[in-house]
Amino acid sequence: MPIFICGTGSYVPKKVLTNDELSLRVDTNDEWIRTRTGIRERRIASEEEASSDLCYHASLRALEAARLGPEAIDLILVATITPDTPFPATACYLQRCLNCRPIPALDINAACSGFPYGLHLARQCLLGDPHCRHILFVCGDKMSSVTDWQDRSSCVLLGDGAGAVIVGRSEDSEGNSPPEGLRLQISDILLGADGLGADQIIMPAGGSRRPASPQTVEGREHFFRMDGKRVFREAVQVMGECAEEILRRNGLSSGEIDYLIPHQANIRIINAVAQHLQIPQDRITITLDRYGNTSTSAIPIALDEAVRSERIARGKKLLTLAFGAGLTWGAALLQSE
Ligand code: ACO
Repeated sequence: MPIFICGTGSYVPKKVLTNDELSLRVDTNDEWIRTRTGIRERRIASEEEASSDLCYHASLRALEAARLGPEAIDLILVATITPDTPFPATACYLQRCLNCRPIPALDINAACSGFPYGLHLARQCLLGDPHCRHILFVCGDKMSSVTDWQDRSSCVLLGDGAGAVIVGRSEDSEGNSPPEGLRLQISDILLGADGLGADQIIMPAGGSRRPASPQTVEGREHFFRMDGKRVFREAVQVMGECAEEILRRNGLSSGEIDYLIPHQANIRIINAVAQHLQIPQDRITITLDRYGNTSTSAIPIALDEAVRSERIARGKKLLTLAFGAGLTWGAALLQSE
């Protein structure tokens, strides 16, 4: 039975932090950041805004696009690596904000690969449970809450935001079709992980292995850390292989992909992957120049922008491609209807 994305929405905080402003905080400059990463500016949430607040605004927009109210949602899935609190789940805070029925709500942590991972779970839930008709799947991260503003190699990269999709069946258990409008059929999803790379992108403390203590705070262990050079190499290789594999098993060539929506970590990674796949620039959706790396939400924000710009006509093939901490990776092949 076909499963669809029948509404998208996104949200970024109002506050813009430019490269020039960052260069007043750490030893960096606009030229280095632009040429080495492609980022011009990023959005930073206010102190009052937590990840669930970002998710809330994105969810309202996705619900509106799908012409559904919160009462129509049967399950909430949130992908985040910056939960409001370690527990309860950010999805439960979101459920409270949306005033949903007492439906199940849970978080997943697949870092920057959260979009294809969560989409896979959403699809399986819809296929396995006839009572589940619409899933609100939101990716949201307040990366500024785990950014080390003294580390110039990582603080220039990260930004805050959220992206949401409503996932549903072609028809519900009563035989009703979903609302009209652009729908994206989920054709295939490919996922992978390699825990041997777990230390490459990590927040070392604050979990059961290294609970918060004066020492962990002193050692700045509650911040995002990354072995940037190594991650760069792995990202280029793994995203290329992942794309090739999903295309191969669907009998497609890269020339048949109308839009590539990659994780937005570094323009040089995106260009290297696109070059490897021979996908031209005008078929790639880019948001990192304006938002930086918004972690889990990077792909659904880019997807929402592409949908709302009406660039995606019916009958087009989209490939989303993710890579992140874990290490995790994934691709989702979508077809617009
Ligand atoms: N401003 C100025 N100079 C800088 C800065 C900065 N912000 N950061 C580093 N430098 C300097 C370094 O100190 C180094 O100087 P040196 O040669 O004197 O030692 C020089 O610039 C080169 O540093 P590199 O680390 O080699 O820079 P590189 O070109 O590798 O770029 C970067 C670093 C941007 C982090 C890159 O490695 C990268 O993008 N990595 C992958 C990121 C990624 O894929 N993340 C995805 C998963 S994580 C997630 O999505 C949440």
